[in-house]
Amino acid sequence: FKVPTPVNEPILDYAPGSPERDELQKTYAEMTAETIEIPLIIGGKEIKTGNLADCVMPHDHQKVIARYHQADASHVAQAIEAAAEAWKTWSEMPWQERAAVFIKAAELLAGPYRQILNASTMMSQGKTCFQAEIDAACELIDFLRFNVEYMTDIYKEQPMVSPAPTWNRSEHRALEGFVFAITPFNFTAICANLCASPAMMGNVVLWKPSDTAVYSGYHIMKLWHEAGLPAGVINFIPGPPQEIGAAALKHPDLAGIHFTGSTKTFQYLWKSVAENIENYKSYPRLVGETGGKDFVFAHESADVPSLAAALVRGAFEYSGQKCSAASRAYIPTNIWPEVKKRVGEMTAQITMGDVGDFSNFIGAVIDQRSFDKCAAFIAHAREAADAEIAFGGETAGDKGFFVQPTVIETTNPHYKSMCEEIFGPILTVYPYDPAKLDETLDLCDQTSPYALTGAIFGRDRGDLVMMADRLKHAAGNFYINDKPTGAVVGQQPFGGGRASGTNDKAGSKLNLLKWTSARSIKENF
Ligand code: SER
Repeated sequence: FKVPTPVNEPILDYAPGSPERDELQKTYAEMTAETIEIPLIIGGKEIKTGNLADCVMPHDHQKVIARYHQADASHVAQAIEAAAEAWKTWSEMPWQERAAVFIKAAELLAGPYRQILNASTMMSQGKTCFQAEIDAACELIDFLRFNVEYMTDIYKEQPMVSPAPTWNRSEHRALEGFVFAITPFNFTAICANLCASPAMMGNVVLWKPSDTAVYSGYHIMKLWHEAGLPAGVINFIPGPPQEIGAAALKHPDLAGIHFTGSTKTFQYLWKSVAENIENYKSYPRLVGETGGKDFVFAHESADVPSLAAALVRGAFEYSGQKCSAASRAYIPTNIWPEVKKRVGEMTAQITMGDVGDFSNFIGAVIDQRSFDKCAAFIAHAREAADAEIAFGGETAGDKGFFVQPTVIETTNPHYKSMCEEIFGPILTVYPYDPAKLDETLDLCDQTSPYALTGAIFGRDRGDLVMMADRLKHAAGNFYINDKPTGAVVGQQPFGGGRASGTNDKAGSKLNLLKWTSARSIKENF
């Protein structure tokens, strides 16, 4: 059996008049015309709890696209039972058969499911068509295809040395218990992959999606079902995080947590595991990708047009809501005026509005909380003596949660928005004296507790090597002369260290190895 050699899914361009644009527009119109009801899915069965919450669109928050049933602790217990039942056959199923399910899911997604998942992601998470395409279609297809390839490598590992008359070998077993996947709103591909990668390795999953991505999550569940994933392997339990979390975290069968979200939540999960540690059958595997305060650091030799483009795209695509988004920049004072001019020109051209209008470059931020947070940072910069708004700074929350792409300029490298994560379209720039390159590299390394992504710009190889070395631990995904967003599966495995996570690289063998427990076997003849 040879799994198909993975290639990155080509990104469709949705040019006016293209078949993909017509199809997506039609799918989007049909899906937004309906308000659907979303059940829990436990053991393959749809469960209606009657405790309903709304899914709305970020750019039109009065528009309810779904009402979803929320789980409580009793449903968590049911899901754990259903998962345990499914584990008996799924964990024993030959890995090639498990792989087949995910290869099929990738094919369905490349075909009939592509626009369903793209439209869902636009509607519930406020992505534009292009941002949905690179996430819900391409990145997810890539995760599925490449992880199947990495999984093949794991199961085909070479046998050990076996001095006669012995035979030494090892086998990869599924974890004993369930994996708790807690997923974010900002990438449909990440949500699906946080469930799929443990499942691929023979595990069963309880999936608690973010309340702002339940809609696309439900469509992912349909995809798994259509691809032939057996009932109970992935159980969908949206609802109040505290109640669901508490019930899942104290269960003796908790075998792992696969998480993307805030640093604070991951720390809470870690502490809960510590509190319950004596009750578990195994030590749970904890894999998390958390916050970021991703930087762009320019040397005075940087190419100004590409630096300016990287700042604008890195900071403002998807309204800065990528965990990788550029949110602080260190630019030498001697090139800042020119960089600023270009950034200003490009930012002024950004169109913001309803993502159903494909000409818009960005939509709204995800919810009221995010909107308020962005507004507070903007207000702070207006008042601060050591910061000013260079561009943008307007907000409008009546219809959708709109925040204008904003550049804050500061004279203080420790200014609030240079240090704290915002998760919105706000870039803070600290113009630095190029004679103080050395100290400024230290500032970049030390002012934030995070280390997810970062980019450096410059021409001279010696400077680049020095900067990359000084910032060695400041980012898990590091870019030279490129924006810090847009890691591609199979090209740049993704994840960061320090307060940004356990760096078990999404889309890698390293990640899949977390979801298996090896047995070494020695046999005498
Ligand atoms: N993988 C995404 C990026 O690199 C972030 O999650 O932009």
